[in-house]
Parts: sequence; C-alpha cells; structure tokens
Amino acid sequence: MIEIPYLTALTTYFSYGLLFAFGQFRDFFRKFFDWFTSNNLNGYAPICLGLEDFYIRRLYLRIQDCFGRPISSAPDAWFDVVERYSNDNNKTLKRTDKVCRCLNLGSYNYLGFAAADEYCTPRVVQSLEQYSPSTCSTRVDGGTTALHKELEECVASFVRKPAALVFGMGYVTNSAILPVLMGKGSLIISDSLNHNSIVNGARGSGATIRVFLHNTPQHLEEVLRELIAEGQPRTHRPWKKIMVIVEGIYSMEGELCKLPEIIGICKKYKVYTYLDEAHSIGAVGKTGRGVCELLDVDTADVDIMMGTFTKSFGSCGGYIAGSKELIQYLKYTCPAHLYATSISPPAAQQIISSIKVILGEDGSNRGAQKLAQIRENSNFFRSELQKMGFEVLGDNDSPVMPIMLYNPAKIPAFSRECLRQNVAVVTVAFPATPLLLARARICISASHSKEDLVKALQVISRVGDLVGIKYFLAEPIKKKFD
Ligand SMILES: Cc1ncc(COP(=O)(O)O)c(C=O)c1O
Ligand SMILES: *[C@@H]1O[C@H](CO)[C@@H](O)[C@H](O)[C@H]1NC(C)=O
Repeated sequence: MIEIPYLTALTTYFSYGLLFAFGQFRDFFRKFFDWFTSNNLNGYAPICLGLEDFYIRRLYLRIQDCFGRPISSAPDAWFDVVERYSNDNNKTLKRTDKVCRCLNLGSYNYLGFAAADEYCTPRVVQSLEQYSPSTCSTRVDGGTTALHKELEECVASFVRKPAALVFGMGYVTNSAILPVLMGKGSLIISDSLNHNSIVNGARGSGATIRVFLHNTPQHLEEVLRELIAEGQPRTHRPWKKIMVIVEGIYSMEGELCKLPEIIGICKKYKVYTYLDEAHSIGAVGKTGRGVCELLDVDTADVDIMMGTFTKSFGSCGGYIAGSKELIQYLKYTCPAHLYATSISPPAAQQIISSIKVILGEDGSNRGAQKLAQIRENSNFFRSELQKMGFEVLGDNDSPVMPIMLYNPAKIPAFSRECLRQNVAVVTVAFPATPLLLARARICISASHSKEDLVKALQVISRVGDLVGIKYFLAEPIKKKFD
C-alpha cells in the first residue's frame, strides 16, 4: 500500500492529463499528414493499435534517453556509460566514442560477482576454452556437459532441496515451467505484484488465475477459502490442484515476502507453494540461501523453489528446485528443457564458482564478507535515504530500494541530473509500475565502498532537492492508494 500525498497525486494526474491532451492533439494532425503521405493503405491492418502505441509515441519517446543507455564495461560498482547525442529531439540517439565513468546504482550485482573475481574469472575463462561459449544443443541431445550436472547438484544443495533443474534464462524458467505444472481445471493464486514472467507463465498454462492483494496473507486466505468453496467455474467440481505463487523479494518494491504466514495458510489448506527467489537467493540470509533462511522457513515447506542466476551470482539462467520426483517429471515434460539450447558452459561455471565462494569452499572468507557487506551497505543506504526525507519502499536487509518519484516530469529530471553528476540510476514507470507510481530503483551491491555510498547519497540528496522528491520532509496529508 503506497500513500500518495494529495497534492502530488493531483499534479501527477494533471501532468498525465496534459501529456495525453497534447498527444491526442498531435495525433489528430498526424492523421491528416498520413492521409496525404501514407502509401500504407493497401488493405493490411496496422500492427500498432490503440493506447499502448500512443503511450510509446507520446510519452515514452520523449524521455527515451533515460532508458536503455548502452554500457561499455562490466556492471561493477563503477561502470562506463556510453555518451549519446541526437539530431532529432531524441527521436533517434547515436552513440559517440566517449564514455562517462559512473557510479552504478542500477545493476542487480548484489554480491559483486558481476565483475572480474579472483576465484571465479580464471575458472570461467578455463571453461570457455574447454567447452566454448555454447553447447549448440538441447539438454536431451548433446547439450548436457559435466558442468551442467555439477551445477544442478550444486544448486540443489545450496537451496536445500533434493534436486534442481537449470535453464538458460530466468524469465523462461517461470514462463515455461508454470504451463507444465498447471493447466485447465487448476487454480493459480498469484501475488498482485508478481513478475511478468510469472504472469505470462500463469496465463500460458490455461489455469484459472486469481490475484491476492500484494503481500497480504489475510487476503490470500480469503481468496483461497472462497475459491475452494466455489470450485471450478460453472461445474463447481473441486480444483485439480491449487498453487500459490509469491516472490522472495519483490523487484519493484524491495519488499520481503511475508513467507512464514503465507506458508502457514498454504499448509492449512493443503495447496502448493511456488517461491520465486530471483532477487533474494544469494542476497539475503546468513549464508546467502535466500528468504527461507532469513525468515526461518523450512525449505521442505516450499514445494517449488525457483530462482535466477542473473543477480547475486553474476551469470545468467534460472533454476527450479524441488523433490526428486518433481524434477524428474519436469525433465521429461518441460519444453524449455527439451527444445531449448542448454545454458552456456562458462555461465554455468560462473554460478558454480560463485556459490563456492559464498559457501567458503574456495578456502577464503570472502563469501561471508560479501554477505555481511551487502547487508550493511543496504541498511546504511536505506536509513540515510529515509533520514533525508525520501519516500523509500521496501524492508531492511533488502538491497532493492525504490525512491518514489510519482510525477512523469520527475522521471527524466532525476535520471538525467544524476547521470550528469556521474551517478547512474534506473527509473521505472508504467507499464512496469502503475501509472501514478513512477520511481527510481536503487540496487545496492557488496562491491560498493563506503565512499561510493556517501558520494551517491550526496548526489541523490542534491538532485532530490532540485527535483522536489523529498516527500517525507514535511508529513503531508495522504491519500491511500494501492
Ligand atoms: C522475480 C523475477 N523473476 C524472474 C525474473 C527473470 O529473470 P531473468 O532476468 O534472469 O531472465 C526476474 C528478472 O528480473 C525477476 O525479477
Ligand atoms: C534529449 O536528451 C538529453 C539528455 O540525453 C536531454 O538533456 C534533452 O533535454 C533531451 N531533449 C528533448 C527534446 O527531450
């Protein structure tokens, strides 16, 4: 639940209203131009229809320089952002040879494994030489190497499940697994802010989908009771199976899942749980084992554990971990296992090596230090931002901290001004968030030094004053909004 100050809500609505009106005005005249110039009237329907296209043309393109900025180095604590210029009011952006060295507050490099690492990098280079960048084959054909088998054993034991299966992409892990597990006659109950990969997987499964209020166990229970009582639509037969899907740390909110309560409810009603730990695995918990470890939940109580290697491990791909029977079944049935090229061997090696460092199996205590550092950095940064008067979402210990911007004009203002002062931030707006709830999303890394964080805070504070986003400086009247 986010509470918008009344005045901010009003000006935000007003800004979007103005943008919409101007956009419509321009579209109206464009229609006349098109009428004369277009040779596109040969019977085909237009590819882009309606408001989605309007939003891109009239809102997004105006500030597109703030998105997709090319990077020309590893996503470490500092990185190189390629400078661009435009001759047509930012309609098209051209790269220059110049780069701007910036403090990186955007990448999901929680443990700092995304840059060269004394333990991981030599092993990854060695695996590249031994195996090549790609297996050029699916897992069931020639795409299972010794590394793939080692990786799956390593992941299963790291997340404390009997078995695991890995995929070349985190997004596909969700979107391809859910249709295998669920189908017509089954029921998916999904958190309202679950990631798009879960949403698409759930839709693709053909199961009935119901959403519960973000991270609200009482509402989950209400929805569950009602739907179990009702049964399937029309026939009212009992559901074939029911699954509740949640995330460990919500990527746009920085919030920790209320997992113990949710697991309690799922056990009470004997429904399956599916936990996406994309942002939490490796990043939280005493030994980096994610939200179960942090919140003291037995992993045996989570039926399907999913996660990605694209954040804490500095690699790519995703995993599903669960019982031996489940994983065996998925190996025979999941199209992303049967028909997609397996994860790149050097990427697999990067995951194995980074897990070894996290667990101290490299013979050093660097892993433990990284885990302590990410926690200390995150909690320091979050509390300093709050003291400055920013509206910061999320929980302690979470390395993801969104700063609310609300107003559409504040998105490019904040992003451009930070960049000008050598701090690279990610801003997020519709459709990734609700229209009114635009934000900047800071991701803290264990590789940020204290000086880095202090510099970032100074810049963000200055820019925050300039842009006017220290909403909590004076406690204004609030309007409830969810
Ligand atoms: C919760 C969640 N699940 C899945 C994914 C997709 O993972 P990937 O980026 O590794 O494809 C993401 C990506 O950010 C995510 O936040
Ligand atoms: C184009 O982008 C630059 C920053 O990259 C910005 O300063 C400028 O105001 C933008 N121009 C327009 C017309 O939006």
